[in-house]
Amino acid sequence: MEKKIILTADRPTGRLHLGHYIGSLKNRVELQDSYDQYVMIADLQALTDHAEKSSEITNNILEVAIDYLSCGIDPVKTTIFVQSKIPQLSELTMYFLNLVTINRLKHNPTVKAEIKQKNFKEAIPAGFLIYPVSQAADITAFKADLVPVGDDQLPMIEQTVEIVRKFNRIYKKVLIEPKALISKMSRLPGIDGKAKMSKTLKNAIFLSDEEDVVSKKVMSMFTDPDHLKIEDPGKVEGNPVFIYLDAFCKNRNIVDEMKEHYRKGGLGDVKVKKYLLNVLLEFLTPIRKKRKELEKDKGYILKILQEGIIKAELKAKKTLKEVKEAMSLF
Ligand code: TRP
Repeated sequence: MEKKIILTADRPTGRLHLGHYIGSLKNRVELQDSYDQYVMIADLQALTDHAEKSSEITNNILEVAIDYLSCGIDPVKTTIFVQSKIPQLSELTMYFLNLVTINRLKHNPTVKAEIKQKNFKEAIPAGFLIYPVSQAADITAFKADLVPVGDDQLPMIEQTVEIVRKFNRIYKKVLIEPKALISKMSRLPGIDGKAKMSKTLKNAIFLSDEEDVVSKKVMSMFTDPDHLKIEDPGKVEGNPVFIYLDAFCKNRNIVDEMKEHYRKGGLGDVKVKKYLLNVLLEFLTPIRKKRKELEKDKGYILKILQEGIIKAELKAKKTLKEVKEAMSLF
């Protein structure tokens, strides 16, 4: 039986961090054995709100590719490629744009939240407003059956399905309706306790952070603000230190014991943080080592990307041919 196709992507606005790992990289490493997996470095999407930072985005493509390979995404099993190198995606976006209203785009909950968060006010870049359409093109060009996403990306899948239905109805049934694949633990809070780890919020631990940096960040982590004295009972729920332990510590018994002790009182934050630091270093050290090796061989990274681009382009070209035929284009 042919493997189902899955597609995911990251905007290359910086190196990847633990939030990316828990939200998607871990999943990708697990999924690559059972699916035909495409992972796209979404440089065009990154430009939609970083137009003036184009060279920075280009530099980050290599960094993100290195992050992928360092944490176990296998280029033999996964097609890694760069969005801007597949012009068919932009072409398909143009066709799709006629199937969507501006009002519908303005009401996409994720776009709405981002417009607010980025404080665009009345100056929303048109490219930003339409990025869900370009995302629909990414997904459908590869005929992806499944899109593994965090819950904030669900509106994108919904909008993609609407576009696919409309296309298939008014032209011909050539596009596949994708389904979202929601992972269990999709969001890691920042070290400051904010809901989401992010580079912009400056609350991230990066996969490439050196030991001393990780140590500083862990020791400065937000915990239970009411846990003032060691003997005070502490809260485990919503406490980032314990959320990180749940996400990264393989020894469940120890974590359970520590939680119980913390709740009762008598377990200090520093002790928990030191334990967490060890857990994180054990996880990050092999990744950092692999990264250092890969950094020395940029030619190899470029070769992997080139191979991915060739494979991705072949697939997208085939879909575009069907799309244009369905539309009776010249
Ligand atoms: N919007 C996604 C993000 O910000 C990136 C993305 C671009 C994407 N194209 C995609 C995700 C297609 C899934 C499928 O992370």
